[in-house]
Amino acid sequence: MTVHVSRLLQTLEPSATLAMAAKAKELKAKGRKIYDLSLGEPDFATPEHICQAAIEAMRAGHTHYTVASGIPELKQAVVDQYKKRYGLTYSPQQVVISNGAKHALHNAFTATLNPGDEVIIPAPYWVSYSELIKLTGAVPVIVKTEESSGFKLNAAQLRQALTPRTRMLLLCTPSNPTGTFYTKSELEGIADVVLDADLTVVADEIYDQLIYTAEPFTSFPTVRPGLQERTILINGVSKTYAMTGWRIGWAIAPTLEVAKAMGDLQSQETSNPCSISQYAALAALTGPQDCVETMRREFERRRDYVAQRIAKLPGVTAAPMQGAFYAFINISQHLGKRYGGTLVENSSEWCLELLAQKGVATVMGSAFGAEGYARLSFATSMETLAAAFDQIEAFLQEAK
Ligand SMILES: Cc1ncc(COP(=O)(O)O)c(C=O)c1O
Repeated sequence: MTVHVSRLLQTLEPSATLAMAAKAKELKAKGRKIYDLSLGEPDFATPEHICQAAIEAMRAGHTHYTVASGIPELKQAVVDQYKKRYGLTYSPQQVVISNGAKHALHNAFTATLNPGDEVIIPAPYWVSYSELIKLTGAVPVIVKTEESSGFKLNAAQLRQALTPRTRMLLLCTPSNPTGTFYTKSELEGIADVVLDADLTVVADEIYDQLIYTAEPFTSFPTVRPGLQERTILINGVSKTYAMTGWRIGWAIAPTLEVAKAMGDLQSQETSNPCSISQYAALAALTGPQDCVETMRREFERRRDYVAQRIAKLPGVTAAPMQGAFYAFINISQHLGKRYGGTLVENSSEWCLELLAQKGVATVMGSAFGAEGYARLSFATSMETLAAAFDQIEAFLQEAK
């Protein structure tokens, strides 16, 4: 008898960012010089005091199962952090620690969505949202946003997308892939529609510590009374503390009932997140924070450099890079041309040819629901960025 892949998984798209990174690695292994701007992963080592905490956790015998939803000390540290940063009050029982923010998102969607529910996702969007939502039987409703407004959804667009089946809004701020973030007044406009329409909001704020503007970041539940009771907050240590490999993220649920559902789901799927990583994350949240500012400053220096190089690329524009570590460049004027004899008609072909011909790995806008764009990550060294932009410049110049 043949083993078949389930109907559910037959429609699942693999992560385009991971696929591009894998292609880049494959070429590198063959000896090609590759400039990898594909992955959204800090290139810094995890700060030493965090690594030490992991070693101490192992020595102290924290090498067994923990409570499925995470160790109480880490939940408390998450709660304390939200109080300190944003003045939001939560109880530790509302926090579910997971194997990365991606897993926290999966838990949040699975715990709250039913088949047929509609979830509004502003595009461009991070690649995993729509696929994780589809796994629950719910329906992603993609709403296009404009480069001219920083790729941000406004209240009118949200209102227009509502149907009787709309259950949830997905907000990613600062945004992967666009690098912009919602101001307080923009969030207020959205919040009014959310409250009116009785929506649940999943607010993915994993890049909240990587901001490069004078305007401070605003956490969604702070903008109107009543939002905390309908928002699932997603965050983690991956981006802020250069801890992508440790796999610790969390969801803060609006009610104990939802937190319990997420914890129960996790207890059946994975038991707990890695015990040692949880102690490392605890050290990250409760230890010295100067490492965060040091990394943020370096990202800002790279952001400035990337903005300056993009400005010099003929016919290429980008939304202002205000947070996270991505540039989302508009390459639409460069499609429909031949590159080294190959006709390039869309963003996927553009990114694949750029990699094949010049060794620069980026991710096609189509993977984020925005044809005509490409995402460049600047979470890599200045040397790599400089060489990559030289190659991109040459690539565009040679196009006919
Ligand atoms: C917007 C966004 N949310 C969540 C994640 C997932 O983070 P983690 O590595 O903690 O699973 C990412 C990682 O790329 C991201 O960009």
